[in-house]
This record gives sequence, C-alpha cells and structure tokens, in this order.
Amino acid sequence: MSPAADRHELLGLSGVTCGYASEAVLVDVDLAIHRGEFVGIVGPSGAGKTTALRVLAGSMRVAHGTVRRHPGLRMAYVPQVETINWSFPVTVRECVLMARVHGRRLPWASRAERAQVAAVLAQLDIGDLADRHIRELSGGQQQRVFIARALLGEPELLLMDEPTSGVDVRLRHEILHLLDDLNDHGLAIVLSTHDLNGIAAHLPRVVCLNRRVIGDGVPHDVLSTDVLERTYGASMEVLVHGGMPVVVDSFRRHAPHPHPHAHPHPHADADPHAEPHVHSEARP
Ligand SMILES: Nc1ncnc2c1ncn2[C@@H]1O[C@H](COP(=O)(O)OP(=O)(O)OP(=O)(O)O)[C@@H](O)[C@H]1O
Ligand SMILES: [Mg+2]
Repeated sequence: MSPAADRHELLGLSGVTCGYASEAVLVDVDLAIHRGEFVGIVGPSGAGKTTALRVLAGSMRVAHGTVRRHPGLRMAYVPQVETINWSFPVTVRECVLMARVHGRRLPWASRAERAQVAAVLAQLDIGDLADRHIRELSGGQQQRVFIARALLGEPELLLMDEPTSGVDVRLRHEILHLLDDLNDHGLAIVLSTHDLNGIAAHLPRVVCLNRRVIGDGVPHDVLSTDVLERTYGASMEVLVHGGMPVVVDSFRRHAPHPHPHAHPHPHADADPHAEPHVHSEARP
C-alpha cells in the first residue's frame, strides 16, 4: 500500500459479473480501492482490464453483483492515448480548458478557469507547450495533457488505461514518477498495464485479472510463477533482482539442430532471450 493509503474505501466491486451483449467478460470480481492507493491491473489482452476500469468509472452497467461508490467521490478516467483523435485542431491550453468549461465555448472561460489551467500545465511541466497544437506532441506529452485534463476536477481517484503503452523507457520513468508524485500528494490511482517489470513490479499493489481476479496484493506475492501462469496461460519465470520481482518470459523455441562445429556452451539449452543480465536468485 502507498504511504498515503488508508482503509477508507473509495470504490468497491462485490461479485461483479458483466460483459457486452450476452458474453460475460468479468466474472464474480471483488475489488476494493481505498483512499491514497496506487493499484496496477495486469492481464493478457482481452482479460477485461479496460472493462474493469469502465465498471469502476461507472460507465458500464453490471449484470450481477454490486458497485459501491463513496458518496461524492471525485474521480477522473483517462482513456488510452491511442483511442483519441489527436489531429483535432486545438492547442494544449485549449484542449485542457475544454475539459474545464464542460462544453461552454472557450471564449467564455473565466479568468479563474484560465488561471487554473495554467497552474495545472505548470504542475505537469508542460506550461511551455500551452500554445502548441496537440498533434505536435510526443506520446509522453500527450499523456501529460490527458492527466492535466483529469486533474482539473481535483479528483481523489484517477483511473488510467495503459498510461505507458507505446512510450520509451525514459518517458515511462517520467510518467511513473509523475504518477508517484501525485499519489504521494494523496491521489488514489488505478491503472492498467501490460508492463509487468517496468510498471507493475514498482507499484504497491497489483491485481492480476483474467476475467476473474487471479491475484491481488503486493508485487512480491502476486508476481509469482503460479499466479502469472494462471493469469496469462503461459509459462513464466520470476527472478528477484535488488529485492524486486523480475518476470521472465520462459518461452522456448524448439531446440535447433546442433551445429556440427559449434563449441559446447554451458547454457546451451537456455533461451538467450529468457536470461536477463542480472545476478538473481530464482523464485519458486
Ligand atoms: N464495446 C465492446 N463491445 C463488445 N465487446 C467488447 C467491447 N469492448 C471489449 N469487448 C470484448 O471484451 C473483452 C475484454 O475486453 P477489454 O477491452 O476489457 O480487455 P483488455 O484487458 O483491456 O485488453 P487489452 O489489453 O487488449 O486492452 C474482449 O474479448 C473484447 O473483445
Ligand atoms: Mg484494454
């Protein structure tokens, strides 16, 4: 749990089953999100991560079970960057301001609203991009614009769908630091990610989802071979490096025919892609 987290529940799902048309996507899901928590939802493609975020956000009805929401809870939902039309002709400032004025035309934005937008852009370190067209932003900058829009409502809970998909390692660190900082200041965050090592292993709580909740807890407990295999239906190894779990894809191709002139190698049977260059102890 994050230092700022406590047991005050913001949102809770009990026995939630839901889906699209007749097919259930989530089955009997129990999940409670508390004030100040930082939670990562992981699972294979199609596991229901986005669906779970939609249920938490209240934008999807459930077929069975209950959704509890703390009265007056302020939350914001940040969709995947890829799902947005970035060629829409607005600047960063206008794009963020539009979230603030809720459909009123921009010229009528008040001085206070404009000041608030400027403050949020500065907080996210994109104040100097205010007049830039949103089309001309990098993936990390686009993500900041999204977060800026979300923060304007001063949410207590931020729901984010794959905030680091498609960004390089430096931007991933940047986004993670930014989210960590917001969480330190009391914002509860629930995000989905495909990045087990770069994101999930760094979070205080990880939920492994594949239609059902397969595991829920600290990464050290949840990122285990057993839980991951049940979540992904694929075999994975988990090593520990610097006290952190490191998940290794243990996919092996069929052994190639040995080359007649090859020198014997002590690890000839190991997949080179499956061995990170770390001195690590294996975990069960
Ligand atoms: N609007 C929709 N209408 C019908 N089926 C949908 C809809 N959205 C998602 N699904 C289906 O629900 C299942 C879960 O989808 P969801 O988007 O929640 O998965 P996900 O875990 O977010 O996957 P990914 O990692 O690819 O984003 C998938 O089988 C998907 O095809
Ligand atoms: Mg998704």
